[in-house]
Amino acid sequence: MGKESNETKLESTQAKPAHHAIAVAKGDGIGPEIMDAVLSIFRATNVPLDFEYVDMGKSIYDQGYSAGMTTDAKEKIEQYGILFKGPMETPKGKGVKSVNVTARKVWNTFANKRVFKSLHGVDTVFSRAGIPVDITIVRENIEDTYGAIEHMITHDVALCRRFATRPGALQVHRYAFELARKKGARKVTCGHKANIMKLTDGLFLEVFYEVAKDYPDLVANDVIVDDLAMKLVSRPHEFDIVVLPNLQGDIISDLCAGLVGGLGFAPSANIGDNISIFEAVHGTAPDIAGQNKANPTALLLSGIMMLRHLGLTGSAAKIENALLYTLEQGVRTADFGDKNMPALGTTDFAQAIIGNLGQMPSYSKSSYAAHPDAFEHNPPKKLSQNIMRVTPKPSERIIGVDFFVESEDQPDVCASKFQAVLDARYELTMISNRGTQVWPTGSIYTECINQHRVRVEVANEGEMSQQAVLELGARVAGAFKICTIEYLMEYGGKKSFSLAQGQ
Ligand code: NAI
Repeated sequence: MGKESNETKLESTQAKPAHHAIAVAKGDGIGPEIMDAVLSIFRATNVPLDFEYVDMGKSIYDQGYSAGMTTDAKEKIEQYGILFKGPMETPKGKGVKSVNVTARKVWNTFANKRVFKSLHGVDTVFSRAGIPVDITIVRENIEDTYGAIEHMITHDVALCRRFATRPGALQVHRYAFELARKKGARKVTCGHKANIMKLTDGLFLEVFYEVAKDYPDLVANDVIVDDLAMKLVSRPHEFDIVVLPNLQGDIISDLCAGLVGGLGFAPSANIGDNISIFEAVHGTAPDIAGQNKANPTALLLSGIMMLRHLGLTGSAAKIENALLYTLEQGVRTADFGDKNMPALGTTDFAQAIIGNLGQMPSYSKSSYAAHPDAFEHNPPKKLSQNIMRVTPKPSERIIGVDFFVESEDQPDVCASKFQAVLDARYELTMISNRGTQVWPTGSIYTECINQHRVRVEVANEGEMSQQAVLELGARVAGAFKICTIEYLMEYGGKKSFSLAQGQ
């Protein structure tokens, strides 16, 4: 294909784009290499953006900023509402938190949009079979185990609290359905594990179908996440928009990256009402860092999403067409493509794209006009206090308590000690160990660790006050070390806690 003669005309049909300032953090490992490559393409395209570099990542942790970003970085990002970031290293094990996750959570980027689309010139098992892949994962982005609220509750037992909230699910599901409409999709699928995690994933799924009622034009269905993984690798063309809880969404995203040629082709946008963050799905690739080998495509595609988000649809399409044309020519970095063709380094790959600005690919040309990613950006609102999201509250009662106690007692011994501190107002109903019932019935083959969960319920379907819970707790503390306490709640007359396995 020759040069696109209408290029300038198409650019000029748009209102003259406003100049935006955005915050840019180059990141660690391959981050600076791929970010420089992408920004060189942006500059060659004269995208109307001012890049304000901010300090985030490993070197900033090393300087003693435990959140992984400087105060100046935080202020600039909150001012501009856009962060374009390279991957950042999270030191493993105990200590500091991931700055990637911190950034998503602090600024409430509730939906992580990850687009996996076959690219002509990127060979995969599906492209060889003539099956196009075009899946968008919308991953819940701020809750779930990524709350990372973890405690050692005995020397042998680590416990993670997993948040699933109605306001959080409402935001992410509504975003997924709106995106489906903009994309012209037919179907939105919810992936989950609600068959096992009945309250957390159960809430996520319940809200999905509540929101779906407002979108009768779209098919809404759900698939258990393990089945989803199998279906995605065998029939990816049957999926369009898939919305998932955080951890499951993260894992399924990498699976989808494999469907379209690998992590080098997986862009992502972390969308919030005020601040949005654009980054590749992949990490810092320490194995190839500093070698000018990394594939900048995923970051470039993330940047293209960002341009559309800002309404710079002309620049986005021009760059995307140059990229698609370049890939079609068999130009490649070492991680993909025809091994008989020479692999270019990161900088030469970017130069090849720059050389092809204005070219049009033969397949899947980018649209200069409507696009599902376009015009999402709103400048950050000036807030004077944190937004509090709550939904109407039904009636509530405390009808018992789960005491998590440290104990090496056999279950029946633990039960006797508990019964000794309970009076007639309470019933000991169950003891579980690692989630499996071991008292009043259970299996002798259930191996135990040094922490029992002991369930006490109010007798005769009564209820108890917080004070009564604390008084009871004080008595239990005379016999056991209490690791943690959970109320057994009833909301709207419905028991709102799970049974133990085997109960
Ligand atoms: P990774 O994504 O960095 O690397 C996995 C494999 O993919 C490696 O073999 C790597 O060479 C390859 N790869 C990744 N991106 C590539 C690219 N653009 N071009 C060519 N090959 C590429 O995952 P890993 O090794 O698990 O994580 C390394 C570090 O990155 C960790 O510190 C992790 O915490 C961090 N990380 C950061 C993320 C972010 O900033 N959003 C996301 C994922 C990981």
